[in-house]
Amino acid sequence: MIFEILIVIFFIVLFTAAAIHEWPSTRTIKLLNKFNGPPTFPLLGNTLLSITVKKEDLLLKVKDYCEEYGSAFKLWFANSPYIILNDAKYLEVLLNNNNHIEKGFMYRVLRNWLKEGLLISSGSKWQYRRKLLISTFHFKILEGSLPIFNNNSQILVKELWKSSKKFIEIESFISRCSLDIICEAAMGVSLNGLSDKGEEYLKAIRRINNLIMIRMFSPWLYNEWIYSLTPNGREYFKILRTLHTFTKMIITERKERKISNSFTNQSTKAGKKNLRTFLDFLLELNETDPGILTFDDIKEEVDTFMFEGYDTSSAAISSAIFILGHNPDIQECLFEELDEVFGDSDREVTMEDLNRLSYLDRIIKETLRLFPSVPCIIRKLYSDLDLGHEGYIIPATTNVVVLPYTLHRNSKYYPNPEKFDPDRFLPEEVQKRHPFAYIPFSGGPRNCIGQKFAGIEMKVVLSSIFRKMRVLSFTKLNEVKPVPGIILRSATPYVVKLIPRK
Ligand code: HEM
Repeated sequence: MIFEILIVIFFIVLFTAAAIHEWPSTRTIKLLNKFNGPPTFPLLGNTLLSITVKKEDLLLKVKDYCEEYGSAFKLWFANSPYIILNDAKYLEVLLNNNNHIEKGFMYRVLRNWLKEGLLISSGSKWQYRRKLLISTFHFKILEGSLPIFNNNSQILVKELWKSSKKFIEIESFISRCSLDIICEAAMGVSLNGLSDKGEEYLKAIRRINNLIMIRMFSPWLYNEWIYSLTPNGREYFKILRTLHTFTKMIITERKERKISNSFTNQSTKAGKKNLRTFLDFLLELNETDPGILTFDDIKEEVDTFMFEGYDTSSAAISSAIFILGHNPDIQECLFEELDEVFGDSDREVTMEDLNRLSYLDRIIKETLRLFPSVPCIIRKLYSDLDLGHEGYIIPATTNVVVLPYTLHRNSKYYPNPEKFDPDRFLPEEVQKRHPFAYIPFSGGPRNCIGQKFAGIEMKVVLSSIFRKMRVLSFTKLNEVKPVPGIILRSATPYVVKLIPRK
């Protein structure tokens, strides 16, 4: 038995080192020695954490470490050092710095899928693309998409109405709606509600998230060749084909419509005249000068925005519904606000309404505090980072980990942190806190480009549901176990019951 364990450990060390193959210098080790951290095993460092601790307990374990080892501590994955930061003042130094915008080592497991799209691209490519794409999320463009948000929310409410008074897994409904919204609003392609194409894509995304999460915590599987020999690896590459085929279909459909010119007369399901979407913008750039943006460039951005644009919002909306189901008093306050803004009418949500829904806004912020859709952000340093405190300098080559999940539950910033309390986001409360104590959309130059889009989507969908229904949650709060993938999910699904309000 001992022999077998030794063999396994030997291979873990071998594959991990082969995958990471960057040995830290003496200077690096000297600088890192200043940081605390849990005990390590020779060669393995803390790698066994990812094997011995269940995935749904990992974030909680790291949260304990934050309490034990302070707001900047180190972990070793074989020969690769990671510094975990859990203090707003350190995060400001890191995230606001234009020199430290490169994504961490673990993002390499996303490369086969998202290639060099905005989320993981680096250097001048990232800078150029970010500048290019930011204009497509301009307020005016988002305002033009409002009918799409409204229409898809109405379809969702009808579906939920049909299932009212039944136990349902809420995210399976929300994810379809979010996917339809991103496809129609950003890509100009309607999936016709609950079509098979969309269903297949959703299933594939769910599964690939799991596979990526498993691989992220198994550095000995980072090597492509080794990974492709494993059953998970074979499944991963098969799913990738499904995902890429879907995005190719989206691009081709929009392109063909554009060529046949029919889309200039075509209305979306929302009944609005044609909108110049994110994808149109990319296709036009490609037409003007294919050197600026090739078809493959378009594809990697469509893959990136489709994934980032739907799964993050879907997780956030589902968490908000779930947590409201445990807080009937807060739901009552929300109903009051909705009744004041909309009365008994069935009219669509307008931009003015969105500005008036300040209590809903606080509910969304508090939801993203407790359940940040992106639980982990990693930057790789290419030069030293001086934290400006007690001589802490993180040396170049280190991966720096930011965990919105643990930061948002730090009692230094949020007293009684497990309590759901939207009033933490009253303007006078926000003013008392460090701005980097709340980072669900990250911060600084590499923050989320889609946060306005997400804000509108969450408000339109949630207001549409709660104008009509109230929610009761059946999954208990203590059954919610945060699994740290690319997107935060609970190991136990959110089971709720929706009941007509009137
Ligand atoms: C509740 C919803 C959302 C949350 C919580 C969220 C959160 C985040 C976070 C934390 C990052 C930084 C990730 C990192 O550095 O590793 C990010 C980046 C990004 N997000 Fe979002 N996001 C949301 C919705 C959206 C939407 C709707 C879109 C697109 C329409 C979008 C597109 C992106 C893109 C493209 C990036 C990469 C930006 C860059 O590196 O320049 N996100 N998001």
